[in-house]
Amino acid sequence: MQNSEIETKAAFDHIRYAQLWEDADVLTQGLGDCAGGTLVSICSAGDNALAMLVLDPKKVIVVDLSPAQIACLQLRIGAFRTLTHPEFLELMGARPSRRRRELLLKALAGLDGDTQQFWQGLSEEVAQYGAGGVGKFERYFRIFRTRLLPFVHSRKTIDAIFVSRPKPERQVFLDTRFNTWRWRLLLSTFFSRFVMGRMGRDKAFFDHVDGSPAQHVARRIRHAAVTCDPAMNPYLHWIMKGDHGEALPMTWRAEHFEVIRSRLDRIEIRPGSLEAFVSTGEKADGFNLSDIFEYMSPEVFRDVYGQILNASAPGARLVYWNMMAPRRVPEDFRNRVETLSEVETELKAIDKAFFYSDFVVEQVRA
Ligand SMILES: C[S@@+](CC[C@H](N)C(=O)[O-])C[C@H]1O[C@@H](n2cnc3c(N)ncnc32)[C@H](O)[C@@H]1O
Repeated sequence: MQNSEIETKAAFDHIRYAQLWEDADVLTQGLGDCAGGTLVSICSAGDNALAMLVLDPKKVIVVDLSPAQIACLQLRIGAFRTLTHPEFLELMGARPSRRRRELLLKALAGLDGDTQQFWQGLSEEVAQYGAGGVGKFERYFRIFRTRLLPFVHSRKTIDAIFVSRPKPERQVFLDTRFNTWRWRLLLSTFFSRFVMGRMGRDKAFFDHVDGSPAQHVARRIRHAAVTCDPAMNPYLHWIMKGDHGEALPMTWRAEHFEVIRSRLDRIEIRPGSLEAFVSTGEKADGFNLSDIFEYMSPEVFRDVYGQILNASAPGARLVYWNMMAPRRVPEDFRNRVETLSEVETELKAIDKAFFYSDFVVEQVRA
């Protein structure tokens, strides 16, 4: 089996992302019409692979290097099968709950022994934060919210972020109430390379990143707080308040619950790297590539991109994000791929997961 460059650098024995911090609404729109097709998705916490079922594909092949991340998808599959939608939201942490231990047991009941054991070991944390709150990334946000944010903003100011108001008023709120010197100091410290590397993301992930993470985050906060309506942003709500408000990520919304539940058997989990999948000779009609290219050096990215093209059916779309490292179709493959700039522009403007600097939709020429 082919190894991935990042496999040798970072540890994958624990949950890094307990929920998916990439907006499935823009992912699914970016993938276009995939009915009846074969899709491939990076797993991460599993939410976006499940969201792809809404596109009515024949199957969604899910890959991930990390068994812990695969266990996040397994738990969701168990939860969709056995829980009601309100129970699902409680278990995941979107809503407050006093019965998460019980819901966890119910969701785990039909799953394999390893997955059961893995999650039972986390049951205390699940009870406290919800299954969507137990990853390293969410822990990082929790430290931010509980230990640092209170020194910068009152609860009243935090609550005021989520009051719906017209765009010009959002700009005034950000400039006069939110973007204080304390806030700017907090951002530049917390999002320094050193702290992010230590607490949030593995240091290896910054090997190929340009510019300061804090500057980047400040730009994206303007997008989330002014360009878009923060009252409709579940990601911002979780970061600032520790759960979701009225707005939920696509996979967790009631309107998709039954459709996803009825198509769970179309999920095919293949633990291992994307590089392993693309060397099988199978072809896919669409790829959710998360932001994995950022974890690769430009040379490895070029090689892997070429392999993905070889594993793509004509017309297949490659959808992915960049956080800080620029990654787009490498020069060598420009003639084989069309960048769907209009789709990108339209979707970037509504992307609620605001940490990313770029959202890419590329289509393999027929
Ligand atoms: C790239 S990370 C980014 C997570 C993301 N931003 C989120 O919100 O969840 C997502 C997942 O990709 C996996 N991953 C990274 N490189 C991979 C590769 N080459 N093949 C398969 N999975 C990979 C990691 O294990 C991780 O679970």
